[in-house]
Amino acid sequence: MDVRGLVRSLGVVGSVNGWRSLRDSCRRYRLDSRYLPSRGAGRARVPGTARDAEPVPGGGLIHFTRSTLRVRVAVGGAVFCGWDGADPEPSYGLGSGCPEADTRALLEPDKEGGWRIVSERVLVVVTTHGAVEIRTPGGVLLRRDLPPRWWDAEDAPTGEADREGTAESVGSRWVLRSELAADAALFGLGGRAAGPRLPQGSYRLWNTDPGGSFGPQDDPLYITMPVQTVVSDSGCHLVFHDCTWDGRLMLRDGVVGAGSGHDHPAWCELRMDGGPLRYWVLVGTPARLLQGWTGLTGQPALPPRWALGHQHSRWGFGNADEVRRVVAGYRVRGLPLSALHLDIDHYDGHRIFTVDRENFPDLPGLAARLREDGVRTVSIVDPAAKAEPGWEVYDSGTRVGAFCRDARGRTARGTVWPGAAVFPDFTSPDTRKWWSGLYAERLAQGFAGVWHDMNEPTSFQAWGDPSLPRSTRHALEGRGGDHREAHNVYALLMARAGYEGLLELRPDQRPFLFSRSGWAGMQRYGGTWSGDVATEWEGLRASLALVVGLGLCGVPYSGPDVGGFSGRPSPELYLRWFQLGAYLPFFRTHSAIGAGQREPWEFGPEVLGHARSALESRERLMPYLYTLAHEARRTGAPYVRPLWWNEPGDRDLRGVGDAFLLGDALLVAPVLDPGVVRRPVRLPAGRWYDRDTGEVFEGPGRVTVDAPLRRIPVLARAGSVVPVAGPEDEVELEVWAPEQGRTGGGVLLTDAGDGWEDPVEERFTVRWEGDRVVVGREGCAEAGYGVRVRGVGE
Ligand code: NOJ
Repeated sequence: MDVRGLVRSLGVVGSVNGWRSLRDSCRRYRLDSRYLPSRGAGRARVPGTARDAEPVPGGGLIHFTRSTLRVRVAVGGAVFCGWDGADPEPSYGLGSGCPEADTRALLEPDKEGGWRIVSERVLVVVTTHGAVEIRTPGGVLLRRDLPPRWWDAEDAPTGEADREGTAESVGSRWVLRSELAADAALFGLGGRAAGPRLPQGSYRLWNTDPGGSFGPQDDPLYITMPVQTVVSDSGCHLVFHDCTWDGRLMLRDGVVGAGSGHDHPAWCELRMDGGPLRYWVLVGTPARLLQGWTGLTGQPALPPRWALGHQHSRWGFGNADEVRRVVAGYRVRGLPLSALHLDIDHYDGHRIFTVDRENFPDLPGLAARLREDGVRTVSIVDPAAKAEPGWEVYDSGTRVGAFCRDARGRTARGTVWPGAAVFPDFTSPDTRKWWSGLYAERLAQGFAGVWHDMNEPTSFQAWGDPSLPRSTRHALEGRGGDHREAHNVYALLMARAGYEGLLELRPDQRPFLFSRSGWAGMQRYGGTWSGDVATEWEGLRASLALVVGLGLCGVPYSGPDVGGFSGRPSPELYLRWFQLGAYLPFFRTHSAIGAGQREPWEFGPEVLGHARSALESRERLMPYLYTLAHEARRTGAPYVRPLWWNEPGDRDLRGVGDAFLLGDALLVAPVLDPGVVRRPVRLPAGRWYDRDTGEVFEGPGRVTVDAPLRRIPVLARAGSVVPVAGPEDEVELEVWAPEQGRTGGGVLLTDAGDGWEDPVEERFTVRWEGDRVVVGREGCAEAGYGVRVRGVGE
């Protein structure tokens, strides 16, 4: 255990639940050592030599002396590779099953002796010893996976009654090493504080609660995903190793023109503790990768429009009066507020789906009154239920057999806020159905959305992994298995149950759900937030890394705890966090109990004034933001994009972690260090205007921009059309002059606010006519909206 872990353990042991978690850790040790197979060193198995191959729709089966590889190209270009008989399904990642095979893809013998699968977008070459090369159709090498190695599991231990009659697979550990281009930059792997470009190092794939506070050095965090986006001069690709087990990716940078002028490739090595060795590969531009990825794993859920406004939260609103006071504080100061979040302190004794009636005597009434002021309420929902016979949620869950069992077949217990707690097994369809029904109570309390927390799942432990024992049993849709396989998808399936519940209970409204933990495909059900980011400048930087990285994993809606979770921010840190948050999809102030307040007026009049401007900018951008929300749903493109999004070939842009594109039109350069009032910005190609002053900057290259305390720099791309809200809330077009001789354009996707109505898409064109900039709408000469052209003679 490292020092941090030790300190955390001592803290836990010293707390109310301390002795319980000490007992839990001892029990976990006993159960896991008795019921899990030992790892067994053994000799590794490799595929051997290719014997023959048979064509199958979309590709082929290549038989080696000790394994078989299936390569199958799907319609749309995604390539599936599965070793040892692994099929694409069953999969928790895929949105609606395995896409159809592209029957035009052909298996051919390779002239080097192996086999090749030729398709429209990717060329896959399989060598005689089982290396798999991913190449562009023109033959440029993007990735070479060396032959995998397996350590086959020892026999499963016997004696567990509930294993009988299931088709449980006992996985082998495996290792897959891949060579990448020398200049390759890797992004993704879920929410990583060290990103967005992941520095060389080791990244664990096991969803983990870092314990109340994290910074850039902490890894893993709540959301891990075996999803890599790799960017290099030779092209971009995305790989998804569809395996839910614990694992680790080692990453080493390459060296361009090393020593004698030869490149040393970058490489990564994935080691998984079990589960199928299967993966999907997509090749193309970043936009195409995200389109393909969300095509495979599902379209991002569309948040209701109000969820794009400012939201406020605190762990520690003691009672309804405090909530009223805070909301009134926003109202009297004329600050927009869209939603107010209630944390665990509104529960009755930390029992989920209950209300503390003493402190919140009339929650539906409170919610209705806030709603009249345009403020929705959002409820936290934890998975762990107090283990308390006689309490309805515990009893009904017990009746339907909803709770996880330990390896001996007894209900598994852990320790969370309510003390001894039980954990719904979301890998069981029956449990999900039961759980979905529980949201009726939340809706009856007037809540408009839910916030899933502690769902890694977290169970306090005196030492080691703060989760359930790995030997804990799970239904896994009837296949049966244990926590080693189910852990990483626990929150994903909780989100599924929550989303489906809300949809069934209130079919005419888009569910609003965001979840601390998750896995590949979680965007189908909602978004996420940073979790307990440390209240430090480093935490501010890390929170941006998370949003950019998650966007590249298909999760477009996220944002940090503005002001940081764990401590009291200085006024400057709070303000800079607030200014960044105003340009991120999920914009919520939140703090831990005892970490002070995050209301904008708590930091003095100067901060309040600047926070007000940030809120006004946010409100003004609303039409642009809901356009981006619809675009994310349609195309998978995240609202927040890395600067290399349109120019992956610009190596200088790949390492930028302190600026981002918001959609196609805006470049946001937040201030992430104290005392800064001017900062460098690495620009993508083209002309950019400071949206505040109109100052012109030419990219590509590094420029210096003003960043006074009152605002962070936001640059607009020349030729862009930004739909914004006018004074009466009507849509207006903010148009930025193209460079002379060039044209531009933009899009508006209208939004009904909520519900499922298809948006109307309006496309605009921008061009010069003499010395005038003229804006038209596709199909008409006029723009149809009020237009303000900027960047002409400013
Ligand atoms: C942990 C969450 O990350 C945090 O946001 C929340 O306030 C606490 N749990 C209490 O519910």
